Amino acid sequence: MPREEVMVMDLIFGRWRSQTLFTGVKLGIFDALGEKPKGASAVAQELGLEATLCYRLLRALGCLELLIEDKNRAFSLSPAGQLLQSDHPQTLRGVTLLEEGPEHYALWKHLPEMIREGRQNAFVREFGRMAFDHADQSPAYAEVFNQAMSSYSNAHAVWVLDALENHDLSQFAHLCDVAGGHGHLMCTFLTKYPHLRGTVMDLPNVVENKELLWADRMGVGDRCTYVGGDMFEEIPAADAYTMKMILHDWNDEECVQILSNIRDSASPKGRVFVCEHIVSNPETPHFSKLFDIHMMCWGTGRERTSEEYRALLERSGWTYINTWFPSQGLMGVIEGAKG
Ligand SMILES: C[S@@+](CC[C@H](N)C(=O)[O-])C[C@H]1O[C@@H](n2cnc3c(N)ncnc32)[C@H](O)[C@@H]1O
Repeated sequence: MPREEVMVMDLIFGRWRSQTLFTGVKLGIFDALGEKPKGASAVAQELGLEATLCYRLLRALGCLELLIEDKNRAFSLSPAGQLLQSDHPQTLRGVTLLEEGPEHYALWKHLPEMIREGRQNAFVREFGRMAFDHADQSPAYAEVFNQAMSSYSNAHAVWVLDALENHDLSQFAHLCDVAGGHGHLMCTFLTKYPHLRGTVMDLPNVVENKELLWADRMGVGDRCTYVGGDMFEEIPAADAYTMKMILHDWNDEECVQILSNIRDSASPKGRVFVCEHIVSNPETPHFSKLFDIHMMCWGTGRERTSEEYRALLERSGWTYINTWFPSQGLMGVIEGAKG
């Protein structure tokens, strides 16, 4: 088959792969298996599944190189499959359950009509409300969403800290992560920089369940405070601010409001670090250009170039300093200064 044909076929059947993977995660296959090979009937019995169909799912997961099938039709986890176990330190389980789960799956069918009509509102078309309002009303979606953010953060935190590796953070005493979810990024900063204290700000319903928050689990509870609030209203005072995967959720006007509110609360020499998938130049493929389509489906936001982030900072009264990139990884960090 010509290379182009293979490539297009591969794209057409992409969803078969991601839905097979999703089903494995959803049914608990990756937590039921380990290094020691196990037969499909044993897995089916343990998880309450039908054995013949279970075997076919395991075989397909083997074909995706997430499991290893031996000559006796028994299965063990491959190194890639281990990343889908709930207790793996770099687990991608939460990302799978969100991005291939029922809500996000359903959004994509509205894409052709949205682009035809020029109205970016798939969540409203499907559920009658925007995503964060849906999370407020649906505890199941909220749980999966917040777990996914921590799961994403396993990789993101490494990239962000790497991007800022040569930055002098000793000038800051107090860091605030705006819309910081359960605080995974903040706690990674506090672990690496013992001189820092941190505030994680997010919606009240996100930070109210103490058991889900990272600070105590990561041993930095004495230096980390959680604050429930609305970033469109008021931001806690701090010397420097991080925001990861926040501005891409919102349109330009909404971003200017958030950035202006942060500037109002920042100390006189305050800094802001915007951590996002930054759209590369036209001739370079980048994951951000695909993530942008997801953002088109999900809310009012978009992925942006470094120049577009610079313009947002300047419209909000910040001075653009630089865009920092990690040695490896898909995110960049745009820095703005108040003074
Ligand atoms: C895409 S998630 C990113 C979470 C976190 N920064 C991370 O990267 O893991 C967006 C976050 O924005 C929070 N959020 C949405 N609206 C907000 C508001 N008005 N004020 C504060 N946080 C808000 C959500 O609860 C959610 O935690």
